[in-house]
Amino acid sequence: MLVVSVAALASGCAGVQSALQPAGREAVEVNQLFITVTVVSIIVTAVVLIALALAMWGPERWRSRLGKDWLIIGGGIVFPVIVLSALLAYGLVVMNAGASRANRAEGQAITITGKQWWWEVIYTTDDGKRVVSANELRLPVGKPVALHLKSSDVIHSFWAPRLAGKLDMIPGRTNTLTVEATEAGISRGQCAEYCGGAHALMSFYVVAMPPAEFDAWLESEAEDATEPQGDLARRGQSHFMENGCGGCHTIRGTSATGMIGPDLTHLASRHSLGAATLPNNARMIARWIGEHQHIKPDNHMPPYENLSEDELFAISAYLEGLD
Ligand code: CUA
Repeated sequence: MLVVSVAALASGCAGVQSALQPAGREAVEVNQLFITVTVVSIIVTAVVLIALALAMWGPERWRSRLGKDWLIIGGGIVFPVIVLSALLAYGLVVMNAGASRANRAEGQAITITGKQWWWEVIYTTDDGKRVVSANELRLPVGKPVALHLKSSDVIHSFWAPRLAGKLDMIPGRTNTLTVEATEAGISRGQCAEYCGGAHALMSFYVVAMPPAEFDAWLESEAEDATEPQGDLARRGQSHFMENGCGGCHTIRGTSATGMIGPDLTHLASRHSLGAATLPNNARMIARWIGEHQHIKPDNHMPPYENLSEDELFAISAYLEGLD
């Protein structure tokens, strides 16, 4: 039973962050390059091992053939130069294909800023409105999107293995990575450059959606937060404001306008909390606020262990309603 459930679990998460299951244009090319290099390497290794075995233990006839000068020069110099040059050329073509796509990208551009230890994600609507979100990247399938990658503190590296290769986020610079999702679905990305204490818990989800769905989602994401529904959520909103949460977090349409932590305007529409550290639901929101320094040590949110169960319950009810 345990084996079955572990196997089911392992297969459930196998593809979500695997470069071997590409769901983006560049990742498909990188995957082909990987398979080609691997297959060629296996063939060359096998031939070398067979030749070695023959040279050591083979019949006299074979051993004298393998000792010929032309074979040493051909197999030891000419062949590797040709094969390695061909693989290098292929690799350069794949890299260049990504570069020229970067120049062609038009339409949606998304600015992603790496921060210790989360991601700020800013979309722009057709009428030019900035829409700030966090820790999740939504993409329209089949459309090249330019990701402008920045950092506001140290060097991070943006890596969504199923979409494309990784690209560093460097303070004071903007690096552009053009991605194109080839199929709808959810995948996962991870910061790929050590950036301090909680680096390993600096992840995000990528949600690729049909273009019409993406447009509808962006429209709703651009709206202000929904008003709290019910007494509990209203009480939660008061606790949220009284405890100064709005000093760091923005909830558009309220007095919370902080710029230090993730924007929470549409928190409930996201798949995770704490940059893909916890699943997103009311119980986990309460856990995060109460114990986040245990869950994600070193993160820059101040501890709120002073809050009572009741207050945590109310605040999580409020935040869970921000869809
Ligand atoms: Cu950011 Cu590692």
